[in-house]
Amino acid sequence: MCKNATDASKFVATQIVLQIVEKQKKGQTCVLGLATGSTPLTLYKELIRIHKEEKISFKNVVTFNLDEYYPISKSSPHSYYTYMHNNLFKHVDIPEANIHIPDGEIDKSHLQEYCRQYESLIESAGGIDIQILGIGRSGHIGFNEPGSSQHSLTRLVYLDKKTREDAADTFSGLENVPQFAITMGIDTILQARRIFLMAFSEGKAKIVAEACESNPTTECPATFL
Ligand code: F6R
Repeated sequence: MCKNATDASKFVATQIVLQIVEKQKKGQTCVLGLATGSTPLTLYKELIRIHKEEKISFKNVVTFNLDEYYPISKSSPHSYYTYMHNNLFKHVDIPEANIHIPDGEIDKSHLQEYCRQYESLIESAGGIDIQILGIGRSGHIGFNEPGSSQHSLTRLVYLDKKTREDAADTFSGLENVPQFAITMGIDTILQARRIFLMAFSEGKAKIVAEACESNPTTECPATFL
Protein backbone atom coordinates (compact mmCIF):
# COMPACT_ATOMS: atom_id res chain seq x y z
CA MET A 1 0.00 0.00 0.00
CA CYS A 2 1.33 3.50 -0.84
CA LYS A 3 0.64 6.94 0.66
CA ASN A 4 -1.03 8.35 -2.42
CA ALA A 5 -1.66 7.81 -6.12
CA THR A 6 1.52 9.59 -7.20
CA ASP A 7 3.74 7.49 -4.94
CA ALA A 8 2.00 4.30 -6.03
CA SER A 9 2.36 5.19 -9.72
CA LYS A 10 6.05 6.01 -9.26
CA PHE A 11 6.59 2.74 -7.41
CA VAL A 12 4.98 0.70 -10.20
CA ALA A 13 6.81 2.69 -12.90
CA THR A 14 10.12 1.91 -11.17
CA GLN A 15 9.30 -1.80 -11.03
CA ILE A 16 8.47 -1.76 -14.75
CA VAL A 17 11.63 0.11 -15.69
CA LEU A 18 13.83 -2.18 -13.58
CA GLN A 19 12.35 -5.14 -15.44
CA ILE A 20 12.83 -3.48 -18.85
CA VAL A 21 16.49 -2.70 -18.08
CA GLU A 22 17.19 -6.14 -16.63
CA LYS A 23 15.74 -7.78 -19.75
CA GLN A 24 17.66 -5.35 -22.00
CA LYS A 25 20.93 -6.44 -20.40
CA LYS A 26 20.07 -10.07 -21.22
CA GLY A 27 19.03 -9.18 -24.78
CA GLN A 28 15.43 -10.19 -23.98
CA THR A 29 12.06 -8.57 -24.47
CA CYS A 30 9.94 -7.35 -21.55
CA VAL A 31 6.25 -8.18 -21.95
CA LEU A 32 3.79 -5.79 -20.31
CA GLY A 33 0.05 -6.22 -19.88
CA LEU A 34 -1.53 -2.78 -19.88
CA ALA A 35 -4.75 -1.23 -18.65
CA THR A 36 -6.61 1.93 -19.63
CA GLY A 37 -9.00 4.17 -17.69
CA SER A 38 -8.14 6.95 -15.26
CA THR A 39 -6.08 4.85 -12.82
CA PRO A 40 -2.88 4.25 -14.86
CA LEU A 41 -2.64 7.80 -16.28
CA THR A 42 -0.05 8.95 -13.72
CA LEU A 43 1.89 5.71 -14.21
CA TYR A 44 2.06 6.35 -17.97
CA LYS A 45 3.16 9.98 -17.37
CA GLU A 46 5.93 8.70 -15.11
CA LEU A 47 7.06 6.11 -17.68
CA ILE A 48 7.20 8.84 -20.33
CA ARG A 49 9.22 11.06 -17.96
CA ILE A 50 11.70 8.26 -17.25
CA HIS A 51 12.03 7.52 -20.98
CA LYS A 52 12.71 11.17 -21.83
CA GLU A 53 14.67 12.43 -18.82
CA GLU A 54 16.53 9.29 -17.83
CA LYS A 55 17.02 8.20 -21.44
CA ILE A 56 15.68 4.69 -20.91
CA SER A 57 14.76 3.00 -24.17
CA PHE A 58 11.57 0.91 -24.39
CA LYS A 59 12.63 -0.75 -27.66
CA ASN A 60 12.63 -4.21 -26.06
CA VAL A 61 9.09 -3.80 -24.71
CA VAL A 62 6.16 -5.83 -26.06
CA THR A 63 2.69 -4.83 -24.88
CA PHE A 64 -0.71 -6.49 -24.67
CA ASN A 65 -3.67 -4.37 -23.67
CA LEU A 66 -6.32 -5.94 -21.50
CA ASP A 67 -9.37 -4.88 -23.40
CA GLU A 68 -11.19 -2.77 -25.98
CA TYR A 69 -14.81 -1.78 -26.49
CA TYR A 70 -16.65 -3.67 -29.24
CA PRO A 71 -17.47 -2.60 -31.79
CA ILE A 72 -15.43 0.59 -31.94
CA SER A 73 -13.29 2.17 -34.61
CA LYS A 74 -9.60 2.69 -33.82
CA SER A 75 -9.97 6.35 -34.73
CA SER A 76 -12.77 6.92 -32.20
CA PRO A 77 -11.65 9.30 -29.42
CA HIS A 78 -13.16 6.75 -27.00
CA SER A 79 -11.26 3.70 -28.24
CA TYR A 80 -8.56 2.27 -26.04
CA TYR A 81 -6.41 2.30 -29.20
CA THR A 82 -6.60 6.12 -29.16
CA TYR A 83 -6.16 6.29 -25.37
CA MET A 84 -2.99 4.16 -25.43
CA HIS A 85 -1.41 6.06 -28.31
CA ASN A 86 -2.19 9.46 -26.78
CA ASN A 87 -1.20 8.58 -23.23
CA LEU A 88 1.84 6.35 -23.80
CA PHE A 89 2.80 4.93 -27.18
CA LYS A 90 3.23 8.26 -29.04
CA HIS A 91 5.74 9.39 -26.41
CA VAL A 92 8.04 6.36 -26.05
CA ASP A 93 10.00 4.19 -28.48
CA ILE A 94 8.10 0.89 -28.30
CA PRO A 95 8.13 -0.45 -31.89
CA GLU A 96 4.59 -0.32 -33.35
CA ALA A 97 4.88 -4.03 -34.24
CA ASN A 98 5.30 -4.86 -30.54
CA ILE A 99 2.01 -3.20 -29.57
CA HIS A 100 -1.12 -5.35 -29.24
CA ILE A 101 -4.56 -3.97 -28.42
CA PRO A 102 -7.71 -6.06 -28.95
CA ASP A 103 -9.18 -4.94 -32.27
CA GLY A 104 -12.59 -3.33 -31.86
CA GLU A 105 -13.00 -3.30 -35.65
CA ILE A 106 -12.72 -7.06 -36.17
CA ASP A 107 -15.60 -8.64 -38.07
CA LYS A 108 -17.93 -10.60 -35.78
CA SER A 109 -17.51 -13.75 -37.90
CA HIS A 110 -13.76 -13.76 -37.10
CA LEU A 111 -14.02 -12.83 -33.44
CA GLN A 112 -13.56 -16.27 -31.87
CA GLU A 113 -10.53 -17.01 -34.01
CA TYR A 114 -9.18 -13.52 -33.32
CA CYS A 115 -9.45 -14.04 -29.54
CA ARG A 116 -7.66 -17.39 -29.81
CA GLN A 117 -4.90 -15.67 -31.79
CA TYR A 118 -4.56 -12.98 -29.09
CA GLU A 119 -3.90 -15.73 -26.54
CA SER A 120 -1.37 -17.39 -28.89
CA LEU A 121 0.43 -14.08 -29.41
CA ILE A 122 0.83 -13.66 -25.64
CA GLU A 123 2.16 -17.20 -25.39
CA SER A 124 4.61 -16.77 -28.29
CA ALA A 125 5.86 -13.54 -26.71
CA GLY A 126 6.85 -15.66 -23.69
CA GLY A 127 3.93 -14.69 -21.42
CA ILE A 128 3.34 -11.46 -19.54
CA ASP A 129 6.13 -10.32 -17.19
CA ILE A 130 4.18 -7.51 -15.52
CA GLN A 131 0.42 -7.01 -15.69
CA ILE A 132 -1.12 -3.67 -14.72
CA LEU A 133 -4.73 -3.74 -13.54
CA GLY A 134 -7.35 -1.30 -12.37
CA ILE A 135 -10.60 -2.43 -10.78
CA GLY A 136 -14.13 -1.45 -11.71
CA ARG A 137 -17.01 -0.79 -9.30
CA SER A 138 -18.48 -4.11 -10.49
CA GLY A 139 -15.32 -5.88 -9.27
CA HIS A 140 -14.14 -6.39 -12.83
CA ILE A 141 -10.50 -6.74 -13.82
CA GLY A 142 -10.00 -6.15 -17.51
CA PHE A 143 -13.62 -6.33 -18.60
CA ASN A 144 -14.22 -9.60 -16.75
CA GLU A 145 -17.55 -8.69 -15.25
CA PRO A 146 -19.36 -10.58 -12.45
CA GLY A 147 -20.13 -14.05 -13.73
CA SER A 148 -16.72 -14.45 -15.40
CA SER A 149 -15.10 -17.81 -14.83
CA GLN A 150 -11.68 -18.17 -13.28
CA HIS A 151 -10.78 -20.22 -16.37
CA SER A 152 -11.87 -17.59 -18.87
CA LEU A 153 -9.61 -16.57 -21.75
CA THR A 154 -9.73 -13.67 -24.23
CA ARG A 155 -13.30 -13.34 -25.49
CA LEU A 156 -16.25 -11.08 -26.28
CA VAL A 157 -18.14 -10.00 -23.15
CA TYR A 158 -21.32 -8.10 -22.32
CA LEU A 159 -20.54 -5.07 -20.15
CA ASP A 160 -22.09 -4.69 -16.68
CA LYS A 161 -24.59 -1.87 -16.13
CA LYS A 162 -22.27 -0.20 -13.54
CA THR A 163 -19.37 -0.29 -16.01
CA ARG A 164 -21.46 1.31 -18.76
CA GLU A 165 -22.79 3.93 -16.34
CA ASP A 166 -19.24 4.80 -15.28
CA ALA A 167 -18.29 5.30 -18.94
CA ALA A 168 -21.42 7.33 -19.78
CA ASP A 169 -19.82 10.77 -19.20
CA THR A 170 -16.87 9.98 -21.45
CA PHE A 171 -19.21 8.80 -24.21
CA SER A 172 -21.59 11.76 -23.65
CA GLY A 173 -24.50 9.53 -22.63
CA LEU A 174 -25.19 5.94 -21.61
CA GLU A 175 -26.82 5.23 -24.96
CA ASN A 176 -23.48 5.82 -26.70
CA VAL A 177 -21.49 3.37 -24.54
CA PRO A 178 -20.89 0.10 -26.43
CA GLN A 179 -22.62 -2.89 -24.88
CA PHE A 180 -19.77 -5.27 -25.57
CA ALA A 181 -16.01 -5.48 -25.23
CA ILE A 182 -13.16 -7.84 -26.03
CA THR A 183 -11.19 -8.68 -22.90
CA MET A 184 -8.36 -10.92 -21.81
CA GLY A 185 -9.81 -13.56 -19.47
CA ILE A 186 -9.19 -14.10 -15.78
CA ASP A 187 -6.98 -17.07 -16.61
CA THR A 188 -5.01 -14.94 -19.11
CA ILE A 189 -4.43 -12.36 -16.37
CA LEU A 190 -3.53 -14.93 -13.71
CA GLN A 191 -0.81 -16.36 -15.93
CA ALA A 192 1.18 -13.10 -15.69
CA ARG A 193 4.37 -13.48 -13.63
CA ARG A 194 3.68 -10.30 -11.62
CA ILE A 195 0.48 -8.33 -11.24
CA PHE A 196 -0.03 -4.82 -9.90
CA LEU A 197 -3.63 -3.89 -9.18
CA MET A 198 -3.87 -0.13 -8.77
CA ALA A 199 -6.89 1.48 -7.10
CA PHE A 200 -7.11 5.06 -5.89
CA SER A 201 -9.72 7.17 -4.12
CA GLU A 202 -12.48 6.47 -1.65
CA GLY A 203 -14.79 5.43 -4.44
CA LYS A 204 -12.77 2.22 -4.88
CA ALA A 205 -12.48 1.36 -1.16
CA LYS A 206 -15.59 -0.82 -0.95
CA ILE A 207 -14.78 -2.98 -3.95
CA VAL A 208 -11.08 -3.26 -3.01
CA ALA A 209 -12.10 -4.47 0.47
CA GLU A 210 -14.43 -7.01 -1.13
CA ALA A 211 -11.71 -8.14 -3.56
CA CYS A 212 -9.23 -8.66 -0.71
CA GLU A 213 -11.53 -10.09 1.92
CA SER A 214 -14.04 -12.33 0.11
CA ASN A 215 -13.31 -15.89 -0.91
CA PRO A 216 -12.76 -16.26 -4.66
CA THR A 217 -16.13 -15.86 -6.34
CA THR A 218 -17.40 -15.11 -9.82
CA GLU A 219 -19.59 -12.41 -8.17
CA CYS A 220 -16.46 -10.28 -7.79
CA PRO A 221 -13.90 -11.35 -10.41
CA ALA A 222 -11.03 -9.46 -8.69
CA THR A 223 -11.25 -12.02 -5.84
CA PHE A 224 -9.51 -14.52 -8.16
CA LEU A 225 -6.31 -12.55 -7.72
C1 F6R B 1 -9.33 -0.85 -18.48
C2 F6R B 1 -9.78 -1.94 -17.64
C3 F6R B 1 -10.73 -1.71 -16.51
C4 F6R B 1 -10.34 -0.51 -15.64
C5 F6R B 1 -11.37 -0.30 -14.53
C6 F6R B 1 -11.06 0.92 -13.68
O1 F6R B 1 -8.44 -1.31 -19.46
O2 F6R B 1 -9.40 -3.04 -17.87
O3 F6R B 1 -10.78 -2.87 -15.73
O4 F6R B 1 -9.08 -0.72 -15.10
O5 F6R B 1 -12.64 -0.15 -15.08
O6 F6R B 1 -11.21 2.06 -14.45
P1 F6R B 1 -10.73 3.49 -13.90
O7 F6R B 1 -9.24 3.40 -13.78
O8 F6R B 1 -11.14 4.45 -14.96
O9 F6R B 1 -11.40 3.68 -12.59
